[in-house]
Amino acid sequence: MKKLLILTLAVILTVGIASYALAAGAGAGITDSPHDFSATIPTLGGEICRICHSPHDHHIAAQNYLNGLLWNHAVTAATFTMYNNAWSTTINGAVAAQPTGNSKLCLSCHDGTVAVDNFENHAGGVFALPVYAEIPGFAAGATRDLRGTHPISIEYNPDSLAGGDGWLKPVTAPMGGSGTIADVLEGDIMQCSSCHDVHDAPIEAVGGTPLLRVDLAGSQICLACHVK
Ligand code: HEC
Ligand code: HEC
Ligand code: HEC
Ligand code: HEC
Repeated sequence: MKKLLILTLAVILTVGIASYALAAGAGAGITDSPHDFSATIPTLGGEICRICHSPHDHHIAAQNYLNGLLWNHAVTAATFTMYNNAWSTTINGAVAAQPTGNSKLCLSCHDGTVAVDNFENHAGGVFALPVYAEIPGFAAGATRDLRGTHPISIEYNPDSLAGGDGWLKPVTAPMGGSGTIADVLEGDIMQCSSCHDVHDAPIEAVGGTPLLRVDLAGSQICLACHVK
């Protein structure tokens, strides 16, 4: 019985290695997390960070580093339909015309238009985004539709700020192991990274969740920001 279990596990592991790194964050750091492609994408030469960041720009024609964060991955050129006040009249915060900042970087893999292995001077194209890693509720038409996902690139405007929304907690409220709400905003803008920790870092990400900063159990992550 034990032998069979070990054999089954070995098969599961082999299959995992043949496709992508293991799914579901363990909250134990980026190594072996869903964003560790060091074993699966040969052009990475065994490195982890390089698919997204590089210590030097190496004179890449595309100049991906112009996106800040020493960014090293090809950036999406798609246009998106935003979740804004035209779509839902109950939205108060200003929404950018197109995704900005960190969200644009996530979408550079998660909108499915750019190959996962298109980084630095590698054209990529061998590793496409697996369908299950597309943003839930995202419609991939000619214009990529974000109206089925929680608003992003939107102002976080709580009661504590001028003209703010009383149903949003102050930015000093706790956000799991990531500190406060202020710590997960880009300036005062909410992005994908406000809910997800891309690095699956210990303390910051909750194990067994899709890289979430706060657990979904009891909708704790929603209640971190919303007074409900
Ligand atoms: C270099 C490409 C790339 C970038 C950039 C990227 N991702 Fe991913 N991400 C992937 C791939 C590929 C997978 C699927 C991995 C797998 O199946 O193991 C994934 C998986 C995920 C998952 C699912 C994890 C799970 O436990 O199922 C989440 C959530 C996620 N990414 C969020 C983000 C967010 C948020 C950002 C930006 C802050 C981001 N990603 C940036 C390529 C990327
Ligand atoms: C799949 C893409 C991806 C990989 C791989 C990745 N990062 Fe990041 N990194 C991001 C994104 C997107 C951001 C901006 C969002 C954020 O800060 O949460 C970021 C932000 C950062 C920051 C600045 C903000 C912070 O959280 O401290 C540092 C430092 C950083 N990464 C270091 C690293 C190192 C070191 C590695 C490798 C061990 C690495 N990253 C691997 C995508 C990635
Ligand atoms: C308000 C918080 C929040 C924001 C903002 C957010 N997500 Fe998520 N995301 C979640 C939650 C919660 C889940 C898991 C439950 C679900 O799928 O509905 C999830 C699931 C995912 C998954 C699927 C993981 C899987 O295993 O199926 C991916 C990929 C992902 N998000 C990427 C993104 C990207 C990219 C953005 C920005 C465009 C983003 N998310 C913005 C909360 C958020
Ligand atoms: C980091 C903070 C944050 C987290 C976490 C968060 N939200 Fe939000 N949410 C916002 C902000 C900011 C808005 C926009 C409020 C506005 O401008 O009206 C918003 C808007 C909404 C709206 C209103 C959409 C509309 O059309 O009016 C709903 C519903 C919502 N969030 C549900 C959720 C749920 C469910 C979760 C958990 C899965 C969640 N939120 C997690 C910050 C957050």
